[in-house]
Amino acid sequence: MKNFITLEGSEGVGKSTQVRFLKEYCEKNNIDAVFTREPGGSKIAEEIRKIILDPDNKEMGDVCEAFLYAAARNQHLKDIVEPALKQGKIVFCDRYIDSSYAYQGFGRGLGYDFVKRLNQLAIGEFLPQYTIFLDLSPQEAFLRKGGADKADRLEQAGSEFFDKVYQGYKTVAEQEKERFIIIKPTGTKFETHDKIVEALKQKGIFPDNNAESN
Ligand code: TYD
Repeated sequence: MKNFITLEGSEGVGKSTQVRFLKEYCEKNNIDAVFTREPGGSKIAEEIRKIILDPDNKEMGDVCEAFLYAAARNQHLKDIVEPALKQGKIVFCDRYIDSSYAYQGFGRGLGYDFVKRLNQLAIGEFLPQYTIFLDLSPQEAFLRKGGADKADRLEQAGSEFFDKVYQGYKTVAEQEKERFIIIKPTGTKFETHDKIVEALKQKGIFPDNNAESN
């Protein structure tokens, strides 16, 4: 779907910062864009988010979780994404279907095909035009965040799960090369931002007025 851009990455890769930078870039350059996120992003979808992320809901099954993400996704599409695209805006969504592939499909082990079938019903034609994937392994992310102490906590939280999530992203990115824009966020956050803007210019999402601006 034209002008529908999603951002993906595992925990701790600096995705929130990059979303904020992109928003500031759009404001500064008068680019008509809407920034939203999953799970949530609209009233009912936020209510579903609370149920999914509530730490008290420990007994929630993996399949139920996958359906709730898909349900929130469908509602959010109808409430926010579709109307904004119809108005000719660019929509940036922080997490989307690839989070379900990575976390539910690979992390929880429901499998790629299961997540695909379920989500086809939820998203219909709303596949992103491009997906920006911040490609940093959990090990790199946690070392960057402050080394051993944080790495230990990741281990407690289940580093195996995050390894599977990361491998899941890599697998999907490999299968959908045309849609994925892979960015390695190994430099400073400003360098990463520049890489993203450059890629979006190259793809024709952002105007490229380099020649005029200097
Ligand atoms: P959030 O606090 O928004 O995390 P982040 O800042 O990392 O985006 O929590 C979202 C969590 O939901 C995150 O751990 C990934 C997970 N998630 C899934 O497991 N499946 C999905 O389809 C989506 C959209 C998110």
